[in-house]
Amino acid sequence: MNPFHHKDGELYAEDVPLRRIAEDVGTPCYVYSSAAITERYQRYATSLSGLNARIYYSVKANSNQAVIATLGRLGAGADVVSVGEMYRALKAGIAAKDIVFAGVGKTRDEMVAALQAGIHQFNVESRGELLTLNETAVSLGKRAPTVLRINPDVDAKTHAKISTGKAENKFGIDIAHAAEIYAEAASLPGIEIIGLACHIGSQLLDIAPYRSAFAKLADLTRQLRGSGLTVGRIDLGGGIGVSYRGEQTISIDDYTTAVMETVGNLGVQLEMEPGRSIVADAGLLLAKVINVKEGVSRKFVIVDAAMNDLIRPALYEAYHEILPIRAPGDDARVERVDVVGPICESGDLFAEQRPMPPVSPGDLVAFCTAGAYGAVMASTYNTRPIAPEVMVKGGEYQVVRPRLSYDTMIGQDVVPSWL
Ligand code: LLP
Repeated sequence: MNPFHHKDGELYAEDVPLRRIAEDVGTPCYVYSSAAITERYQRYATSLSGLNARIYYSVKANSNQAVIATLGRLGAGADVVSVGEMYRALKAGIAAKDIVFAGVGKTRDEMVAALQAGIHQFNVESRGELLTLNETAVSLGKRAPTVLRINPDVDAKTHAKISTGKAENKFGIDIAHAAEIYAEAASLPGIEIIGLACHIGSQLLDIAPYRSAFAKLADLTRQLRGSGLTVGRIDLGGGIGVSYRGEQTISIDDYTTAVMETVGNLGVQLEMEPGRSIVADAGLLLAKVINVKEGVSRKFVIVDAAMNDLIRPALYEAYHEILPIRAPGDDARVERVDVVGPICESGDLFAEQRPMPPVSPGDLVAFCTAGAYGAVMASTYNTRPIAPEVMVKGGEYQVVRPRLSYDTMIGQDVVPSWL
């Protein structure tokens, strides 16, 4: 289902006209569809139901508690990469026993907090981290439930900035040293070594890299078992891509088949950490056209959203479809425009020479597929308030994060007493 659709000449989120949200809440603002999030999650749950598998929603994709809680109620656990995310997940109602803590640079303080909370699993990314986790757990009289994240040296064929499974990436334990470190982990008193993990990248559109990574984990599992070690769990990470501009993506069923054919008969408990594929197309960024400027050689549509609200185009040259809220009429005229924000950088550019129906100041536009890595990557650059977030369910909606006020933003600075 597409939660955003035209009806009566207007774009709606489920049964709510986006124009109404813009009038009530102001722009820019993020809008999420509860039904779409639910449907995307259920797709995973249904497809994986024949396997001993559990879904840990990757909170980094969208950490609004409304989103986490929606998924928690459906049975998802949470994959977090900082104690901040852990606190959010706990506050949103995810039990500590349903939280996985991943990330390449967990601090000792973060380990203490997670051990005290009693989380489900630590995904450890290096020998150094393993030893620190061991010491920390021992000092607290605890054992840390641990899996080792392996770097399988597989090219995920995605954007370089979001590829994580190649040998030159900072992530995971090099597969050549994995057996040795796993054996060491099994001997440490503060570590309960349970299994393996991997995550090869994000926005994957091809199943082949998954297959080779999972096959390498299966081989490693057999090797470890051959030397008398126990491997009871494999965390397969996240990464399934979404269609930003009509790309063919991986179907969840094809993914499930690849999982079954590679690690399905190892008798292990399986875990997945999807983020983007659950929330990306369940959200959009609503903005208003401030001005249309005729440049010397091109036309600029200046909107009230900017790179501080949605940084993906500036950071990854990412494409987001931009739809006028008013449905295109019979006049199917399009013109090529640059869609830009008001920030003082040329990189504050959402789209270059994009064919769009003509728009005028005051018109509303939607940046589509912005539910993942949108609001979470926002900043207050140029002292712009963080955009509010709204969740729609059927014919109703609620503001799930208000716009940051100028007072809150500016009130945090302290002028030194010597001035
Ligand atoms: N697990 C681990 C260990 C991860 O590092 C990530 C994402 C995920 C799971 C979730 O991956 P997903 O299913 O969402 O692809 N800001 C970038 C994406 C960064 C992804 C970081 N890691 C973007 O806007 O494209």
